[in-house]
Amino acid sequence: QMEDFIARNRARHATAGRAQSMMKRLEKLERIELPEEAKTVKIRFPQPGRAGVKALALKGVCKSYGELKVYDSLDFELERGWKMAFVGRNGAGKSTLLKLLGGVLEPDSGERVLGVNVKVGYLSQHRLGHLDLDKSVLQEASASGKKLSELIVRTVLGTFLFPGDSVFKKVEVLSGGEKSRLALVKILLDPPNVLLLDEPTTHLDIPSVQALIAALQEFEGTICTISHDLHFINSLAERIAHVEDGKVTLYPGNFEYFQRRQAQAAPPPEGAPAAATKPSAGGDGREERLRERAKEREREKMKKEQAQAHARLEELAAQLSDPAIYADYAKVQAIGDEMNVLQARLAELERALG
Ligand SMILES: Nc1ncnc2c1ncn2[C@@H]1O[C@H](COP(=O)(O)OP(=O)(O)OP(=O)(O)O)[C@@H](O)[C@H]1O
Ligand SMILES: [Mg+2]
Repeated sequence: QMEDFIARNRARHATAGRAQSMMKRLEKLERIELPEEAKTVKIRFPQPGRAGVKALALKGVCKSYGELKVYDSLDFELERGWKMAFVGRNGAGKSTLLKLLGGVLEPDSGERVLGVNVKVGYLSQHRLGHLDLDKSVLQEASASGKKLSELIVRTVLGTFLFPGDSVFKKVEVLSGGEKSRLALVKILLDPPNVLLLDEPTTHLDIPSVQALIAALQEFEGTICTISHDLHFINSLAERIAHVEDGKVTLYPGNFEYFQRRQAQAAPPPEGAPAAATKPSAGGDGREERLRERAKEREREKMKKEQAQAHARLEELAAQLSDPAIYADYAKVQAIGDEMNVLQARLAELERALG
């Protein structure tokens, strides 16, 4: 319990820090310029109406596909303002859970309970059937219930890589990735207060992922997302739900917290940690201490590298949130490549440090 408390507070600290750096980035975002009109606009994403504290729940839900029982009497609850990511191996049942929450899949038994004033928006992993093929990109993006100026709509479209005249393209000619980005723009321009997003970064390139993260960090409603994208999860999720064998386990902390708890739950690997705690038999204590010290130094080095990599990632992310950079595609690519390398190295370091 104490641990949960510490983790929650740590998550809160991390959020405060992120919020601050987001504010800095938003100051820059607020000065986005449309290329064809040398005019500055304020861009604030619309916020949804407030929901009750209990946003959405599943009670005693069972779901099978034929012989395959995915959930048997599952209870699950989402509260207002939670930013949660579902993780778990392929086929674990994440998409099924999100569909049950979204009400797009009926449970075999049990019920789905919607909170007061809750409006749910669900974006599927494959995103079919969300868009009107006969409309233009701009028309479709403006089709939301909210009255928004064309300037704002076009600015947001620009952020999701529909620059200039490309907003007059017909939806039917768009590529899969473009359709997927348009579906996201639509949802961001008229957000419901509970957002359920299945792998939202799949068809996005790095700048669009950054734009999505920025919009979602600012979002005041509840977010439940499935993602395999570590950068996305780390930037957004304050809670993790682990889906495994029909069970959903909540971790009241970020992904790092989830990993730590998982590592603790797993049996210690043969040899290593046991040797450190066991008093050494015989007269080789000195050698062992030396080995321990060398190991400690190695850990220190890795931690330092880890901190540097995190700092560099922040720096690169900040560069990407400056819209001016999108004019230089090679630069954006270079930044993306560097981010990928850093993230791979960080994953290695995290594994090594445990
Ligand atoms: N319509 C369906 N008919 C039959 N089986 C299905 C159907 N949808 C999902 N399944 C099966 O149910 C299990 C859970 O699928 P689900 O899509 O929820 O997994 P997931 O965790 O989202 O996986 P991924 O990470 O690959 O997206 C899988 O074994 C899958 O094959
Ligand atoms: Mg899935």
